[in-house]
Formats: sequence, C-alpha cells, structure tokens
Amino acid sequence: MSKVPSKEEILKLPFMDNTLDLEKRVEDLLGRLTLKEKFKLCGGIKIFYTRPIKRLGIKNFKMTDGPHGIGPHSSGNKECTYFPVAICRAATWNPELSEMFGVAVAQEVRDIGYHMILGPGVNIHRTPLCGRTFEYHTEDPYLNVKMAVPVVKGIQSQRIAACVKHYACNNQEINRFQVSSEVSERALQEIYLPAFEATVRKADAWSFMTCYNRVNGKFGCEHKNILRERLMEQWGFRGFVVSDWNALKRNKVTAENCINAGLTLEMPHSFIYGSKHLNKALLEEKFTEETLNDNVRRLLRVMFLTGLFDDDHAIPPGSRNTSEHQSIARKIAEEGIVLLKNKDNLLPLNFKALKKIAVLGPNANKKMSRTGGSSMVLPPYEITPLTGIEEKCKDKVEIIDSPSEADIAIIFAGLNHNLGMDCENADRTTLELPSDQIELINKTVQENPKTVIVLINGSPVAMDDWLDNVPSVVEAWYSGMEGGHVIADILFGDVNPSGKLPTTFPKKLSDSPAHVSKKTFPGDDKVFYNEGIFIGYRHFDTKKIEPLFPFGYGLSYTTFTYENLKVSKDTVLGDESFTVSCDIINSGDRAGAEIVQLYIQDIECSVERPIKELKGFKKIFLNPGEKGTVSFKLDKIALSFYAEKSNCWKAEKGNFNILVGSSSRDIRLQGEIEYLV
Ligand code: BGC
Repeated sequence: MSKVPSKEEILKLPFMDNTLDLEKRVEDLLGRLTLKEKFKLCGGIKIFYTRPIKRLGIKNFKMTDGPHGIGPHSSGNKECTYFPVAICRAATWNPELSEMFGVAVAQEVRDIGYHMILGPGVNIHRTPLCGRTFEYHTEDPYLNVKMAVPVVKGIQSQRIAACVKHYACNNQEINRFQVSSEVSERALQEIYLPAFEATVRKADAWSFMTCYNRVNGKFGCEHKNILRERLMEQWGFRGFVVSDWNALKRNKVTAENCINAGLTLEMPHSFIYGSKHLNKALLEEKFTEETLNDNVRRLLRVMFLTGLFDDDHAIPPGSRNTSEHQSIARKIAEEGIVLLKNKDNLLPLNFKALKKIAVLGPNANKKMSRTGGSSMVLPPYEITPLTGIEEKCKDKVEIIDSPSEADIAIIFAGLNHNLGMDCENADRTTLELPSDQIELINKTVQENPKTVIVLINGSPVAMDDWLDNVPSVVEAWYSGMEGGHVIADILFGDVNPSGKLPTTFPKKLSDSPAHVSKKTFPGDDKVFYNEGIFIGYRHFDTKKIEPLFPFGYGLSYTTFTYENLKVSKDTVLGDESFTVSCDIINSGDRAGAEIVQLYIQDIECSVERPIKELKGFKKIFLNPGEKGTVSFKLDKIALSFYAEKSNCWKAEKGNFNILVGSSSRDIRLQGEIEYLV
C-alpha cells in the first residue's frame, strides 16, 4: 500500500502546482497512481460521477446531461435554464448563438459544481422518425460542423468539458443496443463523421461519448478503428472517451477490447471495468499497462483542464438562471422558429383587426421541458404558447376556444416527448400527426378559414392531409422556457421570423432515403445505409422528389432580392482560394434577416455526386430598402468528395456551378468556376 500523504503534503505535490505545464502535472499525477487506483478511475459511481481517489485528493469528476440544458436527473434536481432544442438552434443558422448557448450552459454546469456536460449531440438526421432528431442539428454535414464547433468552443471557454455524442452513426433509437449501422467509408467521411471530426480539430473537444449501436459490426465502445485510429491518431483528440450509460453491460463487450480501443470510462458503474476483471485481463496480457495509462492520462488531463484541482477563484465562475441566460434562450427561439406558409400575409396578426382569438390544440398549454428522456430540463418557469398569447393580448383581445366565434383561430399541434414521439429509446412509427389533430385542424378550418397552425415538435411531420386547407403554418419546435413569449412575438409581428429548416420535411415517409425497405430502416441485426451519401436534400434532389418543405427553407414577413453575383476568378488552380459575393436587398417593408446559402454543383465527376451541396451560408439583417453584400471564401475543400478508390478527399478538374439562394430549392443566382488541379 502506498503511503497516504497528508492534505498539506498533497498541496505541495507537483501536480497541484497550477503554474506547471499541463502535461507535467498529468504525468506527475499518473506516476503516483497505483494500478488499483487507475482501475478505479475507469468506472463511474453515483450514476454521473467518477470515483474519488482520496489518497491523492482526486475528487469526483461530475457529469450532467444534456443537450439543451442541465437535466434534473443528473444534477440533484437543480433548476436550470431550458434552452431551445438542438434542431431549433440549428434552424437559426447562427453559429454565434451556438457559442452563446455553449457559454451559458457551461456557466450553469459550473454553478452546480459539475465538470462536464453530456452534449452536444451531433448525429445526422438520417430518418425523420429518429426519436432523438430534436437533440441533433441537421441532415447536412456542413451546417452540422458550423453549429457544433461553436457549442464546444463556448462550453470549453468556461473550462467545462463538452462531451460530443453519440459517436458514431447512432441515427435511430430503435434497436439501439444491438443494431449495426452498415455504412460505407464515403458516407462516413462525407456525411456522418465531419461534425465529430471538426469538434476535435477545430474546437479541441475534451470528451466523446460512444454510441450504443455497432458501426459496421463493432460496438462503438470497443471500436478500435472509430476510436483509437480515427479519433485519436488521425484527428489528434487529447480528451477521453466515455461509454454511453450501461453500454458495456448491454453490449456484452470485453474489457480488453474497450481498453484497447481507447475507452477510458465506463458509465454509470464499472460492470465490465471492475478492478478484478481488469486486473485479470492485464495479467493475461490482453492489454498493456501502457494502453491503460494512455486511457487514464486522458481523463486526468480533462480533470486538470476543467479545474478539478484548482481553487474556485482560479476557474471561471458559474451562474444559473440569470436573465442573461434566459435572454439567450429567447434569442435562439426568435431566430430558430420557421415560418412555413403564409398565404395572403395572414401573419403577422394585427391587433386592430382582432377582437377574439380562438386558441386550440394539445400543445397550446403543454410544458415540454420536464420530459424527453435524458434531455429533460427543470426550468424555474416555462412560458407555454397560451401564456405567451394571453400576456400579449391582455386588455386587447379576448381568448376563446370556439373557432366559429373568433376572428382568427390558432392551433398548437405537433408532437411531444412521450415514448414513440420525440424521445430517446424509441423512434416514431409514422410521419403523420396523431389523427385527432388532423381532424381538429380540418374541422377548425371549416369553421374558420383564418386558421394558423403552430407546430411544436422536434422532427419533421407530414402535412399533406391538411396543408392546402390552412393559410399559415409556423414551425416552432420545442423552443425553450421563453418559447411562449417568442411565439406570440412572431404571431403578432414583434419578431420577424428568420429561421430556416435544417432538415428536409418530406411529403410522405417513403420519399425519405432511409425508408426504401425494412433493411434500410429500422433493420434488426443490421441497418443498411444503402443510400450512401444521399441523405436529406442530396437524396430528394438526385431522385427528383418534391419535398413538402426543402432544406434551407423559411419565410419572412419581408422579401429579399438577390443580385450582382461576383466570382473572384474564372479558374482556380490547386490550393488557391476564391471569393463569391452578392448583394441582398430587403425589398419588403419590414426589417428582417435572410440566410443566404451557397451550394456547389460538380458538373461532371468520375463518381456520382449530389446535385448540390451546401458549402457556405451567411445571415444578414437588413432594414427595409437596405442593401447588403455577403461574401464567401472558398477553396478546393468545397469542391471535393471522398474518393473511396484512393481513400482520400479529391477535387477533380473541371467546371463547377456556384448556386446562391434562399433555400436548397430556391436558387436565385448562379456562377461558374473551372478547377485546374
Ligand atoms: C443517453 C445519453 C445520456 C446518458 C446519461 C443515455 O441513455 O443515450 O445521451 O447522456 O443516458 O443520461
């Protein structure tokens, strides 16, 4: 047994000296750990903690869910800010808001005395039915990168660790504990891995959580290629890998495979990483102490980075439920809510023309924060849509429930976080809204043609049964604790909507790329990603399928005109960069923001490529009549695809179209460049 140093002696040890280089502190501490203590650090306790090593003053490293605020289940029921869900955040197309969210949520983590937040989730929307679509950003890898990197940067700027999850290809919840996502190398490279990779290369993510599922036959937690080779060796990850909760036990994997793959921490307990078990495997030379050291070193490093050994005054302070955090939640909702349809400019509503409003529907007064599996949040308050409208209309308009007696009817339809809807551990079974909601919509429209549908949901829903009958539709997502205020602001025109869909809304499920056969969804033992890279709009464009609402789509109360496209060069050589710019004019009579999107089209290629791929976007705010210029800097990376034959990214010689527009299906300007290798 090693000697137990006193508290005073510990304080004098080199690893406690915060003027020393990080790696020196890590090595010093690692060198003092006994084998048993190293084993102990590899398994969790109390569901969300690592085990303390009192002898050396190593405290519990504490982790908490989740993707849009701190979860009560993992924080001792702490009340925290409930931010809009990830799909809403992505619909803002505003990376700055992503970073602000990251900073704010990390301050809350610090305030409750924890060290790591279990998020962001950056899995791609492969199917609209995935129970966790709302926890993830988008179907598009470029937008995913642009929104994921700032979240991680924001979180870690506060010396709180981000934990990027669920690595990799956890694109459905059904059969999540056993299914193998059978996916090509090209789809991994072009679609499923870019955001994971970017959070390492561009934001130095300090932790990754593995998926429950298998990827091409191997479970995420023991996948040497996915973890050790790609994440660590190729991308240069210096953080630690944690299992998804209970994954090792449920997956029945071996300790040695996980250790060798690079999985440091088994959560929530050490079922497979028990000391006896690990010791036996080590004695049998199934892994080496060097490998174990590498895994433990990674956790120690993050402990230092998050200030586990520092005095409180030496680390960024925490704060929770501040008005600043609440206004960030509000801002994300303001920019993330998407106006889908607005016939004859029924919206925004005009108080002068209204005496009575009928407010209907199952989501009018439903609070959403406390549900949603591990993503639940317990906010100090949550403004429902009804409350928001009541506050806005106070002393001005009467709220009733009879559409025939009202000047206008608003139905709050959509989904909720019950199992089988937007909730982990199951997927939705249909794209349709529940039938009673469809009946309610169609009945209400008959009674009052001026009916506005506000959808509260976190994944695409079909609308063919009712869309033609209603004049206006707003996609309001699960928009956080301030959501009701924002919905009212949008309905009455105090906020001009500017969100755009980060994912395609299909007309029907069979139009969607993952739903071609039972093998492509949900799969039993294996789910075959036969569509390869043709996910989302890449599929709809290529197969010429008209979506209900395309990727990148969203209306405003004003209009924007695009003109004057300029491409800085006709020909681009090798690594040269080039600039694309254009002017945007607010041609309507309200101030508003437009998200200008740039897509690249490879005109001729040796392999099949999508019709277009997003390679840039800019959000620009303009007053009525104002003109602004947006510009994009591009290079061969924007022209490249992953060439499976040569196992590398490649831009082929030839001509490329540059498409600039307001959505993936509303291209307003077109240019061209020739690429010379
Ligand atoms: C979820 C994770 C979550 C963890 C801890 C798991 O079931 O898949 O996303 O972070 O539980 O609550």
